[in-house]
Amino acid sequence: MAIYDGEPIRRAVAELTRFLGASVDDPGFLADPHRCLTPRIRSRPVHRLPGGALAVLGHAACAEVLRDARFGHGAGNLYETTLLGLPARSFLQMDTPGHTRLRGQVARHFSVRRIQGLAQNLAHDSAALSRRCAGRPGDFVTDFAEPLAMTVISDVLGVPPEDRTAFHRDARLVIQGLDQPARTTDERAIAQARFRFVRYFRRQIQARRQAPREDLVSTLLHRPDGSMADDREVVTTCSLLLSAGYDTTVSLLSQAVAELDGAPSGQGWAMASNPWTADAVVEEVLRLQSPVQVAPRAAVRDTALDGLPVARGTIVLPLLAAANRDPDVFDTPHAFRPGRYLDPAGTGPAAARHLAFGAGAHFCLGAALARATARGALSVLAACPPRLNGASRTYHEGVVVRGLRSLPVTWPGRPSGTPPSRPAGGAGAHAAPSCPVAHPQRSST
Ligand code: HEM
Repeated sequence: MAIYDGEPIRRAVAELTRFLGASVDDPGFLADPHRCLTPRIRSRPVHRLPGGALAVLGHAACAEVLRDARFGHGAGNLYETTLLGLPARSFLQMDTPGHTRLRGQVARHFSVRRIQGLAQNLAHDSAALSRRCAGRPGDFVTDFAEPLAMTVISDVLGVPPEDRTAFHRDARLVIQGLDQPARTTDERAIAQARFRFVRYFRRQIQARRQAPREDLVSTLLHRPDGSMADDREVVTTCSLLLSAGYDTTVSLLSQAVAELDGAPSGQGWAMASNPWTADAVVEEVLRLQSPVQVAPRAAVRDTALDGLPVARGTIVLPLLAAANRDPDVFDTPHAFRPGRYLDPAGTGPAAARHLAFGAGAHFCLGAALARATARGALSVLAACPPRLNGASRTYHEGVVVRGLRSLPVTWPGRPSGTPPSRPAGGAGAHAAPSCPVAHPQRSST
């Protein structure tokens, strides 16, 4: 996530990369960071980096850091620059009480009912996207994962249909500009998009001050204690949702398709289309290909971790990706085995123990939405799955978020039936396209 944008964290992550003997310029490392992580986790769960920061690889130690108030964001000057250059921290970068208040306000928009409504709409969008691509070679990331993820964010932020084309164009550039390390060539276009993005939300804020609605901007503006938030707080929170939810959703969808394509005899796709087993597929992709690899913290007081003294202000880097393949917690940790998330009776997923969504106070607010989006998209795609066409895939340069930049596929022939329209107000059942192409034998488990 480009949301840990402070220089001390950037330095610690660069040092971690060197410690792993890796480079973000090495496509081999980006494709398989576990070649570097696995030998380190075998030696010990917590390592002191030369500059003093701690790299936390073990599952138990990572969970301890994420759940324990001894580690947070408050100590030290972690975030001297902030999202979009606004002088305000996002709530991911806060400790309680600021974090608790803002998270509580936003959480109202992630209720079970709201997510059910959004998920139904998103299943319609998935079906429409797969129809649009049918019968041609393409790229799963740009054809499907990116447009769907952008729709997710627009739904959450309450961007109306008439604003979406311009909003999507600007939001993509804003995300590109937040990438670490910055690899972008078009700084001017990014600066202009950032300006328009902030201006867009300032206009929404202005309108909601006069006439509040049942939307996120209104909720953020009108604080529970009756006071009004300033523009910076609202815009920063909206940009947090964009930066936390977009890349991660793109990564989950693309990695899921890559894993399912590689699963033997179409069994993965069969599990993805079965309501009893679809959750297990999503959990296993999250565990094995964790989109967020590192969730930085700093010690808020002098303490110790795994027997190592930790001075206040020390940067601590829990490596979620390493923890999710900790051999002390997961059998055959490098294998794609969705079955590990089925309960012994085979009637549904068992409790997930991976840390792909973090843990503790900052546990991902969008977790249920991300799961529902992936479940719905995979069940639509399973009717007629895209096939990896053998061309090489590429990954984004970066350590904190891991995701595919391109995943070349062949989309199967045009599905039959009439494209469904998006139901107004989030109601209605989705129609998966039926596939005219022969597929390998599918099993039901
Ligand atoms: C596969 C998809 C996703 C993954 C793997 C993911 C992962 C994470 C992780 C690991 C954290 C905790 C970071 C930390 O502790 O430092 C987090 C926090 C967060 N995520 Fe997600 N996320 C996903 C999708 C989303 C979506 C779709 C949204 C919203 C649209 C979202 C919004 C947030 C927010 C607001 C936080 C901050 C929570 C807090 O500080 O209390 N995420 N996410």
